[in-house]
Amino acid sequence: CESPSNIALIKYWGKYEPQLPINPSISFTLSNCRTKTSIDYSPRLKAQGKFVFLYDGKTKKSFENKIKEFLDRISSFCPYLENLFLKINSKNTFPHSSGIASSASAFSSLAFCIVSIEKSYNERMTEQIFFNKVSFIARLGSGSASRSISGPSMIWGENEFHSGCSNFFAINYNKQLHKSFKNYQNTILIIDNKIKKLSSSLGHKKMTNHPFLNDRKNQAKKNLKIILNAFSIGDLEAFIKVVEQEAMTLHALMMSSDPPTVLIKSKTLQVIELLKKFREKEKVPVCFTLDAGPNVHILYPEKYKLQVIKFIKEKLVYYCQNELFIEDMVGLGTKLLDSN
Ligand code: PMV
Repeated sequence: CESPSNIALIKYWGKYEPQLPINPSISFTLSNCRTKTSIDYSPRLKAQGKFVFLYDGKTKKSFENKIKEFLDRISSFCPYLENLFLKINSKNTFPHSSGIASSASAFSSLAFCIVSIEKSYNERMTEQIFFNKVSFIARLGSGSASRSISGPSMIWGENEFHSGCSNFFAINYNKQLHKSFKNYQNTILIIDNKIKKLSSSLGHKKMTNHPFLNDRKNQAKKNLKIILNAFSIGDLEAFIKVVEQEAMTLHALMMSSDPPTVLIKSKTLQVIELLKKFREKEKVPVCFTLDAGPNVHILYPEKYKLQVIKFIKEKLVYYCQNELFIEDMVGLGTKLLDSN
C-alpha cells in the first residue's frame, strides 16, 4: 500500500502512555510525499525471527529496532502476527536526504498493510472499523502517523468542537471544506537536510514537566475551534493567523523547555520574514508552518500557485540546501496498490 505524510496545522506536541496526545491536533494530509510498503507473509517456522525489513530492496539495520519495538507494541491488538513471518519492503517517494520526517508515512503504510492481513480473514470488519484500526495501529508507531489515513484533513484527539474524535485514533474531518481550501498547496523548503538533533519522542517527553503545559493545552483547543470555523466559512485570514501561531508556539515550547532546544536555523527566520513581506505586498494569502525541524512548509490556495512558485524560485530558493524544495498538496490518504 502507499501512504502519504501529513502536515499538522494544530500541532501534537506532548504525550502520555500509551502514545496518547496531551492536546487535539489537526492536519492536512499530503499527496506527493509518500511511503510505499509491501508485506509478504507466510506461516512462521520455529527457528525463524518475526520479520525482515528491506528499504528499497536492501536490508536497513538502523530501522530494524524501530520496527521490532512497533511490532511488540501492537502484538496484543494484532495477535495473528505471532504466527506469521513478515517480509517488509518499504520505499519513500521523496528524497531520502531531504530532512523530511518519514515516520508518519512509514508507520501509516505499515499499519495499513498489517490490518489488511486481518481484514482479508475477517469478513465482519467494516470499512469504518478497518480505517479506525489502521489509524489506531499507526498511532502506536508514531502519533502523527494516525493522521495520514484519509484526507484532505484529519483530527486526532478528544475535543468538544468536532464529534466522534478520539485520543486513540484520528478521524476524517467529516464536514465540507470551504472551496478556498480545495487543492490547498504545500511547498516544502528544505533549509537543512541533516537528521534532526532531537527525536520527536524526546521532544514530546520534554512537555511532561513544561512550565507552560496547561496554557499550551488551552491554546491548542482554542486554536482548533478557530481552524474548524475557518475551514467551514473559508476564513483564510483566521487560518493564516492560527497556523503561524501554532508553528511558532511549537518552537517556543522547545526553546523554553529544560534544557532549551533550538531546531530552527537563521535561514528559517529569514525565509519567514521574506514570506510575510511578500504576503503583505502582493496580497497573496500564503502562510508558513514548521515541523520539529528547520524546514519551512508554505501553504496557499491553488489559484496562487504560479505566483508563489515564481516568488520561491526568485527569492527563497537561495536559502534552501542544494536549492531543494518539494511541491506537494493536500491528498486523500492511504491506499492499497495493485499487488501485481
Ligand atoms: O509523530 P511524532 O511523534 O513524530 O510527532 C510529530 C510532532 C510534530 O510533527 C512536530 C507535530 C505534528 O502534529 O505532526
